[in-house]
Amino acid sequence: MSATEAVTSRRSIRAFTTQEVPDDTLRTILTDAARAASGTNIQPWHLTVLQGQAKDDLVDAVQAAFDSGESEKDEKYYPSEFVEPYKARRRKIGWDMYGLIGIEKGDYDKMAAQARKNYEFFGAPVGIIFSMHETMSYGGWMDLGLYMANVMTLAREHGLHTCPQAAWREYESVIHTHLALPADQRVIVGMALGYEDVAATINELRTERAGLGEFIDFRS
Ligand SMILES: Cc1cc2nc3c(=O)[nH]c(=O)nc-3n(C[C@H](O)[C@H](O)[C@H](O)COP(=O)(O)O)c2cc1C
Repeated sequence: MSATEAVTSRRSIRAFTTQEVPDDTLRTILTDAARAASGTNIQPWHLTVLQGQAKDDLVDAVQAAFDSGESEKDEKYYPSEFVEPYKARRRKIGWDMYGLIGIEKGDYDKMAAQARKNYEFFGAPVGIIFSMHETMSYGGWMDLGLYMANVMTLAREHGLHTCPQAAWREYESVIHTHLALPADQRVIVGMALGYEDVAATINELRTERAGLGEFIDFRS
């Protein structure tokens, strides 16, 4: 698979099969991904890779918190108010996804049921929690994003798919306690990794991208 094929065939998958990811494949992806650039080569990423019972235990703990309504919103992750064109893009992906799986406006129970699937890694056999030292700032977040992008791209080369998941941030303290992470680590984001369930309607979602003219100002 070419780099172009890997990049352009990546999309967020929200239903996985139970097929296990071979351990050597998983380790190869996570090792190669660490060739990501990082400012002054600090490599600030830290991963907790969960499979089997360890994954199921975290899923149980976080879904219990979800069910009891104990989420911890991070006011800084997304803007407090989305301006255009971001607002329209965000709405579109939301309604496209809900439309595809038959969720109508105002059907909050079904929306919550879909949101809850985040906290089982959408059925993926591998769930990853990315964390970083609490001293990390914007640069560290960017470095972690580059590592994540590599994981998502390399996964395609191995026939795997992913879904990056900011949703896990809403349960940072539950995750932190449950995984017994060092006190100075902060949970940043999660990721589901596995094989696509090609029969799942939700995986038919295809997202659009703005044309170059909308985000690049070529000058010469
Ligand atoms: C940092 C990050 C966090 C995300 N968090 C979630 C999430 O919590 N749940 C989810 O279903 N999708 C999540 N997504 C997936 C985005 O919705 C998706 O990337 C976007 O709609 C574009 O679609 P595509 O990935 O299929 O190209 C996240 C993506 C990124 C990059």
